[in-house]
Amino acid sequence: MGEILADYNGYDYKGKFWSGREYEDLSDRKAIQRLLPKQAKVFIDIAGGYGRLANEYLPKNYKKTIIFDYSKTLLADAKKEFGDKITTVQGDIYDLPFKDGEADAMLMVRATHHFDDLPAVIKQLARVLAPNGTLVIELANKKTLAKIFKYWAKKSDINPFSHEPSKLKELNKGNFYNYHPKYIEQLFAKNGLKIERVLSVSNFRSPRLKKLFGHKLLAKLESPLQYLLAPLRFGPSIYYQVRKVK
Ligand SMILES: C[S@@+](CC[C@H](N)C(=O)[O-])C[C@H]1O[C@@H](n2cnc3c(N)ncnc32)[C@H](O)[C@@H]1O
Repeated sequence: MGEILADYNGYDYKGKFWSGREYEDLSDRKAIQRLLPKQAKVFIDIAGGYGRLANEYLPKNYKKTIIFDYSKTLLADAKKEFGDKITTVQGDIYDLPFKDGEADAMLMVRATHHFDDLPAVIKQLARVLAPNGTLVIELANKKTLAKIFKYWAKKSDINPFSHEPSKLKELNKGNFYNYHPKYIEQLFAKNGLKIERVLSVSNFRSPRLKKLFGHKLLAKLESPLQYLLAPLRFGPSIYYQVRKVK
């Protein structure tokens, strides 16, 4: 069983993290618009924080929308902003407080890097997903082009080609994990989750490129590349749409 590595209670995630990351935000939004199902009875945004992406899924035809997170303060922010349009549920991903098959659509974005036990997380997600239900999940990719060059230039000793999760340490933060796409793809197969679509996202995550082109133009340039680069599993964020087949 994994442990809570990232406690966002009291952290100004919206103000502190998201300022200066408009390009990444637009890229995430484009990807989930492309991958989320049109209809669902019960939809859960897992580790959904303050509901950053709620404006993408609330207009959809979902009967019930739940934001699940560990942080009580982020959930309170979400409730304040979206009121009755959402239900908030607090808990730990390693012990999801939902019944087997309760949700027919689920989303999890920018959370895998916090989990030291991804097999246990995928098992939980697969348990809560209804047969034929859809999960859209973003992976913090270990095998990006930038990381490959860093390794070849001997600026990093993390081998991006090995399937083992890599453990990084961010300043003033807990551990931070990157995963090889093959690693999570094997977990999908093991848990009866069939990959339907893949996107490569935030491909231009570089302060220099953002300065040169501006966030909005960069997001526009990235749009077709989300499809084109997907087979290479190129970007720092790999998005999967998976369906529960058993
Ligand atoms: C980087 S934020 C992403 C939030 C949101 N998905 C987004 O993209 O804006 C990571 C989220 O994971 C949540 N989290 C971390 N560990 C968790 C755990 N063990 N169980 C549930 N949520 C957790 C944090 O509280 C935080 O809201």
